[in-house]
Order: sequence, then structure tokens, then C-alpha cells
Amino acid sequence: MGRKNKSKIILQTPKGMHDILPKEYAFYKAVYDKAEEIANYYGFMPIVTPHLEKTELFSASLGNTSDIVEKQMYTLKTRGGDKLVLRPEGTAPIMRSYIENGMHAWPQPVMFQYSGSFFRHEKPQKGRFREFQQFGLEIIAEEKPVAEAIIIKVLSLILEELNIRPIIVHVNSLGDKECRGLYRKELIAYYRKKINQVCKNCKKRYERNPLRLLDCKEEKCIEIKGGAPQMLDYLCSNCKQHFKEVLEFMDSGDIPYFLNAHLVRGLDYYSRTVFEIFEERPEYQNENNNGSSLALAAGGRYDYLAHALSNKNLPAAGGALGVDRIVQLMMEREITIKAVKTPKIFFIQLGTAAKYKSLKIIEMFRKAHIPIMQSISKDTLKSQLRIASKLNMAYALILGQKEALENSIIVKDMDSGTQDTIAIEKVVEYIKHKTL
Ligand code: HAM
Repeated sequence: MGRKNKSKIILQTPKGMHDILPKEYAFYKAVYDKAEEIANYYGFMPIVTPHLEKTELFSASLGNTSDIVEKQMYTLKTRGGDKLVLRPEGTAPIMRSYIENGMHAWPQPVMFQYSGSFFRHEKPQKGRFREFQQFGLEIIAEEKPVAEAIIIKVLSLILEELNIRPIIVHVNSLGDKECRGLYRKELIAYYRKKINQVCKNCKKRYERNPLRLLDCKEEKCIEIKGGAPQMLDYLCSNCKQHFKEVLEFMDSGDIPYFLNAHLVRGLDYYSRTVFEIFEERPEYQNENNNGSSLALAAGGRYDYLAHALSNKNLPAAGGALGVDRIVQLMMEREITIKAVKTPKIFFIQLGTAAKYKSLKIIEMFRKAHIPIMQSISKDTLKSQLRIASKLNMAYALILGQKEALENSIIVKDMDSGTQDTIAIEKVVEYIKHKTL
């Protein structure tokens, strides 16, 4: 391989993964800060689980026929021979942690918030990455509809307070084991007659996971879906009542929603309520909007997940925000975020005595909550002043040999070029006064 080609490969992030540079980072931080702030008020406790988990955790819970388990997991064999996977999502690991750590002995329900990177080997496209970040919420050991209502409320609030408005929550109910079975049969009967008209992928879905037929984005399949039976017509009375209460909570909580009778989800662990949250744009107002807009958050109830892992019956609900998609949208819409304190002061030192004093001076400013930039490895005044002016600093603090001996420092106004000599113990106050 030529040197040029080799460095081209080395100098690229892996496909579907990206660096977060300082400007973007400010948006990620704004999203996480807001999400944590609101989740804390609602009583969600923070939890961190490993990036690697046993493969079976996901194959047992997400469903063997789900896209994630079938083709999107990053699996690896460790030196010790264990088969591990880079977590593709956060709900199964949190349920694992609940069971493993005996959290049934804690006051119930247990409410968690979490964040971090997740990994899926998907076809990269706008808003779809192979490493992406989520902020998630889970309420474990709660069967009442208020669980879904709180999750949807908190996720919506976070988006709205980030100035992503208006939003719309698409909701549906997938029923429970019994009523879903009946619906599945009806759906199969409907598609049996149309099987020659659907796409290649849907033919496979028909055989392996018929509910996923409703998730197809191909135009001809969307049309066929229009006439498909709707789950809501097959709900048993308990599931109907449960869903009614979820909707009542949404009505009374002023949460804008759209009853999307064909909404299904890519993970098999869901039962009853499922939801996806979108930015609302006039052009997206139909149930097939997934083609033109991407879900900013999604989730639902997963009453059977714990049973799939350990034969325990533990009703639960949750949801997660897609942080990368939110950041992209905020940047596209030029939504402003609270400005991060960027340094306006550049510290310059000349000579050995001044170098030794440098860290003390930076620390004096840190204690006063004033960030400063520096380039301590540089030696000449010219090189340091050049950096200060490139970074558009308002003031340069210059500590030369003489000043180091006399315990003073020069404050140079970078715009006007004027300068004052100030006693070191007074410089923090002096700068505070100047920059306020
Ligand atoms: P999910 O729908 O797979 O659900 O992901 C939740 C959100 O993460 C999506 O709505 C989307 O915003 C974002 N997301 C998913 N995949 C990608 C990707 N490849 N690139 C960028 N963003 C992505 C879950 O993961 C469930 N664990 C959510 C949940 C929590 N359900 C119950 N509790």
C-alpha cells in the first residue's frame, strides 16, 4: 500500500463514528446539563454500566430477529475467550444491573438516568451513526401508566427547554402477550394476500417478525400498510384501559401527541405503550414521517424484559434521547445555548523565575473562577503575543524576569496596546474589575 493511501486510512475516524470538537461539545454539554437537571428534579438516580456486556444479554432481550441482534452488534472475543458486545442500547444492561444488584430490596419503583455512547453497525446516514450518544431514563418495578407518562413528560420537557419546539409525541399500544398474538394473526392474514407486492425485506419480515412489516419505509410498502389492521382494535380490556390512562396523563400534562396506530419499534422487548418524539414540522404531519424526520427520542413499556433475563416479573418503562440528533438539529436551527465562559486573558511568561511562578498565577485565577489561556512551553514574548492575538484575547498578563523578582505583573490591553504594572496580589481584582 502506498504511503499516501495508508495515511488516508489512518487519518480517518472509523465509518459512522465522529470526533466531537470544542464547538459541538458545547452543545452536547448543554443537552446533558439540561437533561440531568430535569431528571434530577423528577427523582431519577444516576447509574453507569460498562460499555461491554455479554452477548446473550442482548440476544435474550432484544429478540433474535431484531435488526440489532441479527446484524448490528459489535461482538468481540476476549483473550480469555468470553464473547462480549459493545452495548447497542442501555435498557437491557440496566435491567441486568437491577437484578444483579438485588435492587428489589430498594424502595420501589427504582428510577434511573444514564448517558453515554452506544454502538450499532448500521448504514451511516444523516442522524444515524455507528457510535452515538443517548440520555436515557428507566422506571423499574412500576406497572401503572404513570410510569410511561413521567418518561414521556420528562423527555418532552428536556427537548422543549432546549428550545426544540414544537415537538410531537407519536404513541401506540402494542398490547400484551395475549392480545398481540391475536393481532399478529390478523396482520399475517392481511399480508398473506399482498406478499407479492411488498419489498424483499418485508418478505423476510413476514416470515420472521411480522410486526416489523409496519416499520418499512419503502413507498409501496407504506401504501400497503395503510390498509393493515390496527393494533388498537385488538387490545384486550386491560391493555385498552392502560393505554387510555396513558393518554389521559398526556392530555392533562399538555403533551402534544399523535395516535400513530402503526407505530412499532425495532426492539422486541416492548409491550403496551410505545412512543417516538419528533420535532413537529408541517411537512411531517402524517404517520409515515419517519422518512423525512428522525426520532429525537423513543421508548416504551417493557414488561417482559426481566422475564426474558431471569424469569422475574418486573413491569417497567423507559425511553432515551438521541443526543447526536438533538445537537445536529440545534446547530441547524441555530439555537443558541448559554455561552460557556471562554478565556479572555492570556498569560505570558519570560525567563526561568517567571516560568516557576506561572502555575501559582494560573491557580490564583482558577480560584477566582477566571479561566486563562497560556503557552508555558514558549520562551519569547513575540511568539506568545502572537498566540494571544490569534486567539482574540482581550488582555495579556506579562510576567518578565523583573516582574517576577518584584512580585508584579504587566497587564496589556490587546486592543489599545496600553499597559499597567500591577502587584501580583492585586491582579485578580484588577482583571475582575476590567472584564466585568
Ligand atoms: P432506540 O429507539 O433504539 O431505543 O434509540 C433511542 C433514540 O436514540 C432514537 O430515537 C434516536 O434518537 C437515537 N438513536 C438510535 N440509534 C441511533 C443511531 N444509530 N445514530 C444516532 N442516534 C440513534 C433504545 O435504544 C431504547 N433503549 C430506549 C428505551 C429506554 N426504551 C426503554 N427504555
